Amino acid sequence: MSPKRKLHIKSYGCQMNAYDAQRMVDTLAVEGFVETDSADDADLVILNTCHIREKASEKVYSELGRLRLTKQEAAGEGRQMRIAVAGCVAQAEGDEIIRRAPAVDIVVGPQSYHHLPKLIERANSEGRAIETEFPAEDKFASLPQPAPAAIRARGISAFVTVQEGCDKFCTFCVVPYTRGAEVSRPVAKIADDAKRLADHGVREITLIGQNVNAYHGEGPDGATWSLGKLLHRLADIPGIARLRYSTSHPRDVDDSLIAAHRDLPALMPFVHLPVQSGSDRILAAMNRKHTVRDYCETIERFRRARQDIAFSSDFIVGFPGEKVEDFSATLALVTQIGYGAAYSFKYSPRPGTPAAEMQETVSTAEMDERLARLQDLINSQQSAFNAAAIGTTTDVLFEAPARYPGQIVGRSAYLQPVHVMGSAEIIGQVLPVRIEKLERFSLLGTLAAPISHDRPAASQMTIGA
Ligand code: SAH
Ligand code: SF4
Ligand code: F3S
Repeated sequence: MSPKRKLHIKSYGCQMNAYDAQRMVDTLAVEGFVETDSADDADLVILNTCHIREKASEKVYSELGRLRLTKQEAAGEGRQMRIAVAGCVAQAEGDEIIRRAPAVDIVVGPQSYHHLPKLIERANSEGRAIETEFPAEDKFASLPQPAPAAIRARGISAFVTVQEGCDKFCTFCVVPYTRGAEVSRPVAKIADDAKRLADHGVREITLIGQNVNAYHGEGPDGATWSLGKLLHRLADIPGIARLRYSTSHPRDVDDSLIAAHRDLPALMPFVHLPVQSGSDRILAAMNRKHTVRDYCETIERFRRARQDIAFSSDFIVGFPGEKVEDFSATLALVTQIGYGAAYSFKYSPRPGTPAAEMQETVSTAEMDERLARLQDLINSQQSAFNAAAIGTTTDVLFEAPARYPGQIVGRSAYLQPVHVMGSAEIIGQVLPVRIEKLERFSLLGTLAAPISHDRPAASQMTIGA
């Protein structure tokens, strides 16, 4: 047998990229690759890149500059190191990568990871290989299943892709171009993945997709299933204590998703629902296809279904044409909704998107100031949200030993890290915790007897107790 080759993979960007990185590891494990933590001793280095903002994209080239030297050092020692660029920059700028970074051997777009073994072979025989097509075939179908040991190494919480791509074409966004049209996986395949994960100790599944609630997969009955219906199906799988999904679009929230939040205790009451702006004028220029009022009504529908629900969001400041009053409307919306957490970004024009053709009107200094003001507001909401947990008893899914001996860390329904003193036996269980203290972003508490919950409808099943 040939000796094991070493693979180092570095992933940027969204959860979909993190998930894809795992699938690349699985694909290459079959070819005899094992993962290594450092690029220095790797036979193959993969940069799994993100194109969403200019800063993210440019990181690739500085990283490639460093890797070129590592590759030269390896060659000096008589070892051949291959460099591959995957992900959304590969998809968007394949040719430019080849031009700007001659050390790169392979460029592979997100639809082609199942061809990696073939591309490595081609790089070996022809010097370089590039593949950034959008093939019609189902890329999910031909990927190998991860070995049980690989699943266990992933721990208590796992991602499962349910759809990929986006048809929304927000004017600022590259995703419809880098990931292609929206495609949903069949229900049976997703349920199989979830069962296999549960069999190997996974207790929480996050369904992921660029636009996850646009899900419209083929059901076992031949009909098209929505995300809400899919969640109902997955909640029946023994061992799955918690379900989440990300990222949703406000336009695609249908009654079945609201019903899932009403009916399924396993579906966590924490929803990432990006709005981007609180101004209708800017939402229209962004082609978000919803108004501020539509968004607020959607939030209300969720809240009526589940009182203890909380939200997070994404915001862009400084979109072309954003006036002071548009930005004030964003602050007002944040104040009105009251988020548990949120991410905010300065607008970054992306080549090939419609917004990149628009006249930029907000100076860098003004953008910085708007971002700082928005982040102050969001941070104060997040701190208040975390502080409100103090004194309550809340369910925690325990995931791993913490840094201090004897301490175990888990997560609340709202993804807040919670630390308690306890034995490793509690890992994988959902247990009630009395929250006593907030330390930076982490909650500290003690294991409580299973008593009635302070938050309505927050009870979940306890696994393995
Ligand atoms: N599919 C997800 C978002 C993917 S990108 C959704 O629709 O919500 C994640 C976030 O990056 C977006 O919500 C947006 O806030 C931000 N973003 C995307 N393109 C951007 C750009 N050109 N400049 C700044 N932020 C951007
Ligand atoms: Fe991008 Fe808009 Fe699609 Fe989200 S919904 S991925 S922001 S185009
Ligand atoms: Fe980035 Fe591509 Fe995800 S651009 S955010 S890695 S879909």
